[in-house]
Amino acid sequence: MSFKRISRRKFISGAAGIGMSLPILGKASISKTQGGKLNRPLIITSKTNPATREGVTTAAWEILQAGGSPLDAAEKGTNVSELDPRDTSVGYGGDPNEEGFHQLDASVMSGPDNNNAGAVSALENIKTPCSVARLVMERTDHLMLTGKGALKFAKMHGFKEEDLLTEAARKHWVDWKETLSERDYYHPPHKKFQPEGGGTFNVLVLDANGDIAGVTSTIGHHFKIVGRVGDSPIIGAGLYVDNAIGAAGATGHGAESIKVCASFLAVDKMREGMSPQDACRYVCQRVSDRHNGKPMFGLKMVALNKNGEYGSCSLRGKIEAETGKLVGSGFGVRDAKGFRMETGLALLPPMTKEERAQIPWR
Ligand code: GLY
Repeated sequence: MSFKRISRRKFISGAAGIGMSLPILGKASISKTQGGKLNRPLIITSKTNPATREGVTTAAWEILQAGGSPLDAAEKGTNVSELDPRDTSVGYGGDPNEEGFHQLDASVMSGPDNNNAGAVSALENIKTPCSVARLVMERTDHLMLTGKGALKFAKMHGFKEEDLLTEAARKHWVDWKETLSERDYYHPPHKKFQPEGGGTFNVLVLDANGDIAGVTSTIGHHFKIVGRVGDSPIIGAGLYVDNAIGAAGATGHGAESIKVCASFLAVDKMREGMSPQDACRYVCQRVSDRHNGKPMFGLKMVALNKNGEYGSCSLRGKIEAETGKLVGSGFGVRDAKGFRMETGLALLPPMTKEERAQIPWR
């Protein structure tokens, strides 16, 4: 397996940067690990689906062990879920848009490649959108390709067009179509609550040298309006990596993540010295504040820093049955101790039954 790829953009951006080093504003200090130990390599994922959450991190871990780059690891780990029809959070096997076909979003960022990035949005008929996003980064001077152009580009690079609608997803879509009523994403003036429902995940990778990469991949929202693009392919919203600091990814209600540049904000807070956990919490607080402390949707942040600290916070949590405590969503962690699911923080309690009844696909 060869992992070395030379990026034209890396060459261009590197050459343009010679002699032009600018100071970074603000205090750049990464929170200290307990006992000063570095926890590297480290992989975290927001994925909770039991069918693939361990497979995603194991594949990524094995790539790192074989000498692959953090981006190789994040991409191949993400592919595990993208290709598995049991995992309904991403393309193949995921719910389609309102007209019954898939338009996928994905982004990649690679710290050692000068924090370079690539993305695709509304990409149809391709099972591994994050791999196309990587090629946008490596083989073009653009950052994002969308729709028909993204598909043309993917086919040019040998990706096969395939039908992504499984029988289970088709039936789910037909059920939705036949029972629509208020459960759509249109917003007439009388509609008070924002709908929510999506399937997204982030894979953040820190290698043994301290290099960092990240990938976010998604179907977007279940049965979304054709042409809708969420936060996943928006660099700074659904994903952000700074090789000197850390990485963050967002899942949940993408429009709200975009409004606060959620992943950039988390990394920037880590730059100021916050731990990944506190940075995730800070972003959730900012989102909540925009909605007077009553956000009617979900958002979850995951983050890691260069030392190998990590954390997660959900805007809305759940009450743990055994302890009665408010807890956030699970997230997957893979490090030298192996794979495990950990529980993140939660900013706010779950929505009430009445509130939930207003929101489809929860
Ligand atoms: N966070 C996924 C989306 O809104 O598309």
